[in-house]
Amino acid sequence: MNKQDILSAFMFRHACKEFDPAKKIPEEDFLFILETARLSPSSLGFEPWKFIVVQNHVLREKLKDGAWGATIKLDTASHFIVCLTMKAPLIRYNSPYIINFMSEVQKWEGELLENRKKTVENFQKVDFGLAGDDKLFEWASKQCYIALGNMLTAAAMIGIDSCPIEGFNRKNTERILKEEFGVNTEEFGISYMAAFGYRIKEPRAKTRRELKDVVIWK
Ligand SMILES: Cc1cc2nc3c(=O)[nH]c(=O)nc-3n(C[C@H](O)[C@H](O)[C@H](O)COP(=O)(O)O)c2cc1C
Repeated sequence: MNKQDILSAFMFRHACKEFDPAKKIPEEDFLFILETARLSPSSLGFEPWKFIVVQNHVLREKLKDGAWGATIKLDTASHFIVCLTMKAPLIRYNSPYIINFMSEVQKWEGELLENRKKTVENFQKVDFGLAGDDKLFEWASKQCYIALGNMLTAAAMIGIDSCPIEGFNRKNTERILKEEFGVNTEEFGISYMAAFGYRIKEPRAKTRRELKDVVIWK
């Protein structure tokens, strides 16, 4: 792939406000998009995410409550994601999830594992000062946005439109996720929603500041 093709995909990508409800993303293509989320980097490699793909329209209706930025997308998107982010009971340095993750997924062993545990504890307690539960969640949430960026770009590269969504009331949506989706909201919160499909009309021309106004060279 050459640079111009990649930039064309960045120009193609826009926050799609309304999708063509008649057009469905082939399963293979959507699995490709999810794979780019799965392979995304995260701080210390902890993958503090889970993605609910909401294809059931009864559940999509329930998500509309308080989700002012998602309504038309919930009606028209081919595929709709809710990104769950791990909260403190899962993501704190000494949680059973993290301890298990370091040995079973990351394959750390013996002395290297013990050193790693100390590094993670020091990073969370001292380097990044993530003592409070809210801070840990926001830190984990930042990682989830990397996966979001990758999904949006990957989708654009294969001609699929998307929209990232923060237009919802977090507390309200977490209540819906708990009551209607069976999510354990002690362990998971929501970072964002994301809709995927095919545009029904062309977007406005893209607006951005110029590179010279964004970058400082020293
Ligand atoms: C984290 C995030 C949340 C967003 N939330 C919404 C949303 O709720 N509804 C919406 O229509 N667009 C939403 N957007 C889209 C932005 O408004 C859009 O990306 C921005 O205006 C730039 O336009 P472009 O993406 O079309 O280039 C969101 C974008 C991001 C990155």
